Amino acid sequence: MDVFNLLPSPPLFFSHFFRLAFSVFHSKVQIRKLLNQRRSPNAYDISPHTGFFPPEPLPNLPSAFGIWEQALRDANGNLSLGEDESDEALEKRPYGYTWRAKIDAVREASLEILFCLTLPKWPALSTESLHSDLRLSQRAHFVLAWLVSFYVHSMPPGPEDEKSGPVRVPRSLAVPLTQVSRHLGLAPVLTFADTVLWNWEPIRPDMPLSPENIRFVNTFSGTDDEKNFYQASAQAELRGVEILRIIDDFNNLPSASDLTSISKISRDLTRLTGVIQDINEIITSVRSTCDPHVFYWDIRPWFEGCDAKGPDGPGWIYEGVDDAENLDLSGPSAGQSSVMHALDIFLDIDHKLEQRRYPAPSSENKRADHGFMERMRRYMPGKHRDYLDLLSVSRSIRELAQATPALRDPYDNAVMALKSLRDHHIRIACLYIVTMSRSIPGSRGGCPVSAMLDRLQANRVAGNGPVRGTGGNELSVLLKAGRDATLRARLKK
Ligand code: HEM
Repeated sequence: MDVFNLLPSPPLFFSHFFRLAFSVFHSKVQIRKLLNQRRSPNAYDISPHTGFFPPEPLPNLPSAFGIWEQALRDANGNLSLGEDESDEALEKRPYGYTWRAKIDAVREASLEILFCLTLPKWPALSTESLHSDLRLSQRAHFVLAWLVSFYVHSMPPGPEDEKSGPVRVPRSLAVPLTQVSRHLGLAPVLTFADTVLWNWEPIRPDMPLSPENIRFVNTFSGTDDEKNFYQASAQAELRGVEILRIIDDFNNLPSASDLTSISKISRDLTRLTGVIQDINEIITSVRSTCDPHVFYWDIRPWFEGCDAKGPDGPGWIYEGVDDAENLDLSGPSAGQSSVMHALDIFLDIDHKLEQRRYPAPSSENKRADHGFMERMRRYMPGKHRDYLDLLSVSRSIRELAQATPALRDPYDNAVMALKSLRDHHIRIACLYIVTMSRSIPGSRGGCPVSAMLDRLQANRVAGNGPVRGTGGNELSVLLKAGRDATLRARLKK
């Protein structure tokens, strides 16, 4: 066979060649740029003591933004889920109407006439004056993102409900939230950073942040279960600071081939295994502090993002925002924890199924959303994502372990600890979501008929499709694919 006949015609061939050469050159330049950019952890907004947490609580916004801070204080514990028909929730509803009417005076103008209320009109304030201060910008994101979730999820069904069509997020929230989010490089919606990293104050202000010295400020449900859920995520994140140190030590070793370095790497991998086991225990510990029923019925609905009802769901519209249909608006998830991503990158877990590894992905694995973890990075503060980008072009511990027999077992042990963590996490997620999706929201009304009506209501809320994560994904398929991708990183087959 004449191979030259199989080649494209010469001009096409050269154009392919040059394009390929250019893309290789371009990606090398990108990598070199990232490595040259290696800066102190501070430049990535990472603290040596508190990791991705800011070492101090975020300061309150200046008085020009006082209406936002006040609205958040007013919402805390005083609004109920729009779907909730319990007596307690119904009592809170009139307050919810007036709270939302302040934010979106135009839309709730009928109420103004009805109740003869003079409602102050909320402007769409610009966040530009805050952009020179990182902590104030983060605070603006935090306050506005909480307000959006309170606004959307407290809206009851009924004539004023827009849940059959898209949910409107008023411009007074949507415009500034999108503006500050673009500045910070994260999604304009409630994220893991808003619920955990930025949502705390120290119990003892004279002491530094620690797992024991942290109290969560905002909750949707007002329950201790919700605080404990954030607490578990925070504990995992703080325990993960040691992971960041281990990674940093590895990347800063002058050489990874001499005996002293190899024995340090081996010890650090063993330490890493211990940290992963601790995080596993922390995740499992939610079982004793956060009631699955309360989580599923009273807490989780507040976390739903615009895609929670699946691809055919009604979605949200951010009024007054350019390119609103392309915004990232999934709900918060610990899948947005930068510590867990750093760990995955360090151990080279191939969530996107790009590597040829054993055992081959099952058909269910192939069906999963392989872009999930990468997409979750868009829900992280931009500086944290930059740090993860840097890690992904740094030295590879998996390649080193593959080439160094003394490191194979320590590396595999760390991988297997992470696989076991994901096994336990799947069990937790199944108990808290899959099992509870078949339960009855018992606290809402005591009689069986009311329970049945609740059940019908619940089915409506959940939709009839597969059980989904807050990110709108088919839950068990997604989590098992992550677990199986982890197993595939193991060197010993
Ligand atoms: C009641 C406890 C928990 C439940 C019900 C739960 C549920 C979920 C769900 C539904 C997802 C799928 C992603 C989505 O669409 O949101 C997820 C992902 C994830 N969760 Fe949790 N989670 C819990 C606690 C935690 C904690 C404490 C951590 C600590 C780090 C954690 C770490 C993760 C990670 C890293 C992912 C991304 C998927 C993966 O890495 O396998 N989860 N979780």
